[in-house]
Amino acid sequence: MTSIAIVGPGAIGGTLAAWLAQNPNFDVTVCARSPMTDLVVETPEGTIKAAPKVLTDPRQGQPVDWVLVATKTYSAESTRPWIEALSAQGTRVAIIQNGVEHGRVFEGIVPAGRLVPVMINLPAARSAPGRIVQSRHGIIAVPAGRNGEDFCALFAHTEIEAKAHEDIVSQLWIKLAGNSAAIVPARTLRATGPVWSDELAAIVRGLVEECAAVGRAEGADIPQSVIENTVSAMKAMPEGASGGSLHADRLAGNQMEIDARNGVIVRLGEKHGIPTPYNRLLVTLLAASASPWVTD
Ligand SMILES: NC(=O)c1ccc[n+]([C@@H]2O[C@H](COP(=O)([O-])OP(=O)(O)OC[C@H]3O[C@@H](n4cnc5c(N)ncnc54)[C@H](OP(=O)(O)O)[C@@H]3O)[C@@H](O)[C@H]2O)c1
Repeated sequence: MTSIAIVGPGAIGGTLAAWLAQNPNFDVTVCARSPMTDLVVETPEGTIKAAPKVLTDPRQGQPVDWVLVATKTYSAESTRPWIEALSAQGTRVAIIQNGVEHGRVFEGIVPAGRLVPVMINLPAARSAPGRIVQSRHGIIAVPAGRNGEDFCALFAHTEIEAKAHEDIVSQLWIKLAGNSAAIVPARTLRATGPVWSDELAAIVRGLVEECAAVGRAEGADIPQSVIENTVSAMKAMPEGASGGSLHADRLAGNQMEIDARNGVIVRLGEKHGIPTPYNRLLVTLLAASASPWVTD
């Protein structure tokens, strides 16, 4: 029996927990901040249900084989008591978040040799505790090596495509490049397609090009097609479409992952001497649009 604890059973954590719980050889626990009962996830392959153990207090936690952390990036420090309670010497800890700084954010919480940074491309939204819609096929990328390969094996029975990559840095930055443009709908509170103009196209392109330049300075291989595809996707975004989780979090009055998704481009740009005026402007404006208690 493989024991797996998912810290943060929101849209991503809840979806992964439900998929993992389909394997009778897995003992799945969810570690929640808010009370919840069971999981019902509508996936492209049909509805899956699960009733994992639910813990709401780290003092209830016991060491497990795998801890999967799927909170928002700004909640990292709050997961420390969970990670400590759930970890023994052999416990691996997978960090399933957007951004490129999984190692930096969890430095001091998880030893580097037991930390598995995960890039996930799996659009999911939660309507109520444990009620989630996974709208498209899910893809996971992890670093090559034993930890990454063992992590992929956890998903062998699922429809989620999990793959170990020699170059995880590029995988993380390619995802970030696509995400970097989503700060525009988060700021304007509307889809970009209906208001598309040459000026807006230049802003979207500027955001993604800055991200690619900084990512390349960090060692990522980012094909030009990533930039073109992101601009095309923003141009095609129809009226009423969700502008992504930053947009959704702003609408809901939640804290936003501004720093992990665009602030990081500005910070690392400074380190490499790469100007990032588009990202700096949008980060400043979006942070100023939110209440002080909902920015990161
Ligand atoms: N959703 C997507 O489509 C998607 C796609 C790719 C990547 N991502 C990334 O995946 C990460 C997770 O996103 P998400 O959309 O799943 O966020 P989410 O729906 O807000 O879920 C986060 C969960 O973490 C819980 N949480 C926060 N602090 C906690 C703590 N200390 N202990 C236990 N639980 C805690 C929250 O509890 P509450 O129930 O109390 O809020 C919530 O259930 C983010 O980095 C996001 O950018 C998301």
